Amino acid sequence: MGSRIVATGRATPRTAVTNHDLTRLMATSDDWIRSRTGIGQRYVMRTGESLLDVAAEASRIALKRAGLSAGELDAIMVGTVSSEYGFPSFACLLQERLGADTIPAFDVAAACSGFIYALSVADFSMRAGEFRRVLVVGTDALSTMVDWNDRRTAVLFGDGAGAAVMVSEPGPRGVLSSLLRSSGRHWDLLSVRATGVRAPMDSEVRRSSDDAIKMKGPELFKIAVKSMEEVSREVAARAGVKLEEVHLIVPHQANLRIINAVAERLGLPPEKVFTNVDRYGNTSAASVPIALDEALETKRIRDNDLIMLNACGGGLTWGANILRW
Ligand code: ACO
Repeated sequence: MGSRIVATGRATPRTAVTNHDLTRLMATSDDWIRSRTGIGQRYVMRTGESLLDVAAEASRIALKRAGLSAGELDAIMVGTVSSEYGFPSFACLLQERLGADTIPAFDVAAACSGFIYALSVADFSMRAGEFRRVLVVGTDALSTMVDWNDRRTAVLFGDGAGAAVMVSEPGPRGVLSSLLRSSGRHWDLLSVRATGVRAPMDSEVRRSSDDAIKMKGPELFKIAVKSMEEVSREVAARAGVKLEEVHLIVPHQANLRIINAVAERLGLPPEKVFTNVDRYGNTSAASVPIALDEALETKRIRDNDLIMLNACGGGLTWGANILRW
């Protein structure tokens, strides 16, 4: 018995902030941001908004498309590092919002790899026969964790949520293989402490630079490219699939230069790589499921296509999945 994604959904906060908007806050330019990252705009949380609302919206869309009610789920797994509480988990708050007592609900903290991690854990547990219907969500609000005076990081991140309903199913479709990797040795390349403190872009409370996202960008760039290339090759080999057979790769949308470098090393042409980083920025754990949902909506994925998901993020963590759609 394997597992298959039967429906997806996505949602963002209401406010889109363009690169031009950012030039009013810091010494940057549309040209710099686009040429170094591929980002043109991102959605950010405003004071009074809740990421829980955004994640619940994405989840409800996915459930509706799957033709399931929350009460029919067996588990909720949320890839996030943006819980508003130290505890309870984001997943428990989402469970309450969706009305899905008393199934297990828990977070998987793997930063930008959060959705790949949560999806893999869901697949492993469904293969073991534990669950039949699982809601997997990736959601983050890293814009509330940046120092808005630090142009090196503040321009990169956006907020949002993506959700996928997975069902256990025999047969050739679904998740073919998953591979997860971590390297705590590199924890200090991307980190943030005191995640309980929220400082949306428009709030008067400013996050102190000590409590804001710390990133060693150039080092991270190199490791992200190398690790995503390696894990993509390994997960394909594990699934018995040749890279050239992959129809579409839906990578973590951190930076267009990272995405292009990984695709080039894998020998995949641009038409086989889905990107939407220009409109969302780096939404951390939300980035892969938001991209997957858009790829489906725009018919870039069709039944029986071979799809690869991959990501790398703080931890460091990285991972990939191969799916037969
Ligand atoms: N606007 C204008 N100038 C800027 C900006 C900005 N927003 N940010 C930095 N600069 C300047 C710097 O101050 C520096 O100027 P200086 O040499 O006078 O000091 C110059 O641009 C070059 O800075 P670098 O940091 O060397 O720029 P680089 O070309 O490495 O690009 C970037 C920086 C985009 C952050 C790149 O390192 C990167 O993409 N790293 C990966 C980071 C990432 O994606 N993190 C997300 C999480 S990890 C993941 O998801 C995989």
